[in-house]
Amino acid sequence: MEIKQQYANSPKTYEGYGSRLGTKKGASLDWGDYYFLHVHPPSLINQEKWPALPSSLRPTTDEYTQELLKLCRRLMRVLSKGLGLKEGRLQEAFGGDKDGACLRVNFYPKCPQPDLTLGLSPHSDPGGMTVLQVDDHVKGLQVRKDGAWVTVQPVPDSFIINIADQIEVLSNGAYKSVEHRVMVSSTAERLSMAFFYNPCSDIPLAPIPQLVMPDRPPLFLPMTFNEYRLYIRKNGPKGKSQVESLKIVPKAVHV
Ligand code: OGA
Ligand code: NI
Repeated sequence: MEIKQQYANSPKTYEGYGSRLGTKKGASLDWGDYYFLHVHPPSLINQEKWPALPSSLRPTTDEYTQELLKLCRRLMRVLSKGLGLKEGRLQEAFGGDKDGACLRVNFYPKCPQPDLTLGLSPHSDPGGMTVLQVDDHVKGLQVRKDGAWVTVQPVPDSFIINIADQIEVLSNGAYKSVEHRVMVSSTAERLSMAFFYNPCSDIPLAPIPQLVMPDRPPLFLPMTFNEYRLYIRKNGPKGKSQVESLKIVPKAVHV
């Protein structure tokens, strides 16, 4: 506990060790702890918030970051092509090589009454996409499909990729961010690692013009990722309501 407190996060920087998301009074509390780090770009890395031990942690995290950045940038090219755009288009909207990444390591302890709480309340991830590495043996992650919660079966040696809110915004709703939550267990603790691949924080993001047409008006208002993230950090996880709140409300048509 002493060491955890030494690395405790604050609502200001958000980095380090913590146990809640949402600083607003009344935000729901979840049954889990996490460690949150900025891992890219190097200018945002605050080594003081990185645990000093084990000594392999820092070089391993660096290497993991470089490999996952490559994977995410490659997936961005595939997703661009899927939208009929040139392959660098989504990356360009993310600020090219000014993209960012954070790592969140989640720990969900055993819970004596798992049906009374959640490890992580329903939410969609705010950034671009998330590469999740989950426990091979302990289930917990659920995704919402057609209104129902579906448990994700862990597949050894594989990642789970979540589309997050900013890809929904840029694609003008063609790709949808996935709503997900985490259940807790009374018999097993669970660890997961979420690598969040994000746009540059101070560029306004809006639907890509080529994807906006008379019969497909822009669904979202422009907003920078910084503004969006602050909003979420204050309110805590709330399903998909955050990205929904960015939606342009169609004006009433007078005939
Ligand atoms: C997250 C998340 C899922 C998990 O950290 O945003 O959704 O399985 N984690 O821990
Ligand atoms: Ni998530």
